[in-house]
Amino acid sequence: MSEKRIPLAGVIGDPVEHSLSPRLHGHWLKTMDLPGHYIPLRVAPEDLEDVIRTMPRMGFAGCNVTIPHKEAVLKLADVVTDRAALIGAANTLIFLNDGKILADNTDGYGFIQNLRQGAPGWNPKAGHAVVFGAGGASRAILASLIEVGVEEIRLTNRTRARADELRHEFGTKITVFDWVQAANLVDGAATVINTTSLGMTGGKEFRVPLDGLTPGAVVTDIVYTPLITPLLQKAAEAGCVTVDGLGMLLHQAVPGFERWFGTRPEVTDDLRKAVLGDG
Ligand code: ATR
Repeated sequence: MSEKRIPLAGVIGDPVEHSLSPRLHGHWLKTMDLPGHYIPLRVAPEDLEDVIRTMPRMGFAGCNVTIPHKEAVLKLADVVTDRAALIGAANTLIFLNDGKILADNTDGYGFIQNLRQGAPGWNPKAGHAVVFGAGGASRAILASLIEVGVEEIRLTNRTRARADELRHEFGTKITVFDWVQAANLVDGAATVINTTSLGMTGGKEFRVPLDGLTPGAVVTDIVYTPLITPLLQKAAEAGCVTVDGLGMLLHQAVPGFERWFGTRPEVTDDLRKAVLGDG
């Protein structure tokens, strides 16, 4: 009789010490009393292929992938989900029983689930969405907004060419505006999303004027340090529904955990506290 292995999973990145994923998955394993371990693995780019080919043989069921490997793993995977291909990056690997590696991207899923949990009345068709930023996070968010039926997205980025490129890839639901016009875009918007790093503790301020925000609009930020960013603070003062960025991180982890450890976990207040280190 073969010995039943305790499933392993982890996050590969470089650096990886800052990752909150071990705390997050560790909380689920502990509270659901499941056998399994989730560990951070620092992997240099030149070792990436060897590492992900060896992990299944070591008992890993899969792993999360973070900077700088999210694009590189797509080329190394044997099977790529449609959404990962569309986004051009993967954050979740599943090691299949036949030895193949499946690459998926759950960032957009996490974004939408967070929005639905934090703003239960959110209606993708209520009006236009504004997206600030055109980096990796923006790609996942744009793809997910289009998938759930948002009909008009006004996109702006400091470097306009990156926004134009996304418009080219994702199609006519996106209209690109210069960064200097950013303030006008929020006028009458139903959904406002910051995907830039602006507003992060110790970083540059988010300076876009927000006078045009409509009360009742849903405003969210991918920055979660601090949890209440200046954007979310101003939006709350304007009577908007605000959703912080920590939930996106928590929700993107759900599909991977379910595949690796066999049980679908929940995103709860206790989880948020555990991840923030005050649980
Ligand atoms: P990620 O993959 O996490 O989205 P990224 O690809 O480096 O990270 O993107 C960061 C986003 O923050 C980009 O939209 C970036 O704008 P540029 O494309 O012009 O670089 C935006 N960003 C970073 N610093 C900024 C600043 N000081 N002002 C405006 N936008 C900024």
